[in-house]
Amino acid sequence: TDLTPHNTPLTGKRVIVTAGGTRERIDPVRFITNDSSGKMGYAIAREMQSRGAVVTLISAPTKLTPPTGVKLVSVRSTEDLAKAVTTAFKTSDILVMAAAVADFKPVNSVDQKIKKSADNDHLTLELTKTPDILKDVAKLKRPGQMTIGFAAETQNLLDNANQKLTSKQLDLLVANDVSKPGVGFNGDTNQVTILQPDHAPIKTALADKQTIAQQVVDQISQRVQREG
Ligand code: CTP
Ligand code: CA
Repeated sequence: TDLTPHNTPLTGKRVIVTAGGTRERIDPVRFITNDSSGKMGYAIAREMQSRGAVVTLISAPTKLTPPTGVKLVSVRSTEDLAKAVTTAFKTSDILVMAAAVADFKPVNSVDQKIKKSADNDHLTLELTKTPDILKDVAKLKRPGQMTIGFAAETQNLLDNANQKLTSKQLDLLVANDVSKPGVGFNGDTNQVTILQPDHAPIKTALADKQTIAQQVVDQISQRVQREG
C-alpha cells in the first residue's frame, strides 16, 4: 500500500510546531510552569505530518509520545525554546507556536534548595519578563514565511486575540477562551476561533483536539495555497 500522503499544499513544507508549557527554575527541586498538557501542539504536529509536511516538534516537557516521523527537539525553559525556535526558523516555512510560554521567570535561580527559615513566614520571589518569541521571530520573517500563534484568554476573547494578531504580526491566530468548560489547557477537547488579518473569524464547534487540529491546519493549508 502507498502510505505517502497525497500531494497537498503542505507537502514538503518545513514546519516547526512548539508545544507544552515551559519551565522556569526556582531552585534544584522547584520550577514555575502552567497547565498546558501539550496535546493541542502534538495534534497539530501529527496533522501537519499526515499532510506531507516535514515537521520539527520543539517540545517543553509533556507526558505525550511524539507522532512518528516527526523530528523531536526537547526543551525546558523559555530561553531554550527561544534559541531552538530562532535557529530552526531560518530554514522553515511555517512556525506554529502552540507552546504555553512562561511570561515570567525568577530573577535569581539558585543552585541550592531554598530552605524554610525559622524567622520568616514569607518568601518573595522576584520575577522578570521572558522574551516574546513570536514577536522576535516576526522581525526575522522573510516573504513566504508564516508565523501562527495561539491565544489563551479568559475575557474579551476577540479584542485581546485581535491585538495579538496585530502586535505579533501573525498570519493566523488560534484563540481559545480557556475559562469555558472543555476548552483549551489540559483537556482532550477544544473550541477555537481562527483569526487571520484578511479573513472573517472562523469559530469551530467544541471537538476533540485532533479534529480542531484538522480545522486549523486546513486554514493554514488554504493560506499556503492562496499565497503560493
Ligand atoms: N508567546 C511567545 N513568547 C512569549 C509568550 C507567548 O512566543 N514569551 C506566544 C505563545 O506561544 C502564543 C502567543 O504568543 O502562540 C500568545 O500567547 P499568550 O500567552 O496568549 O499571549 P501573551 O502575548 O503572552 O500575552 P498574555 O499572556 O498577557 O495574554
Ligand atoms: Ca502569556
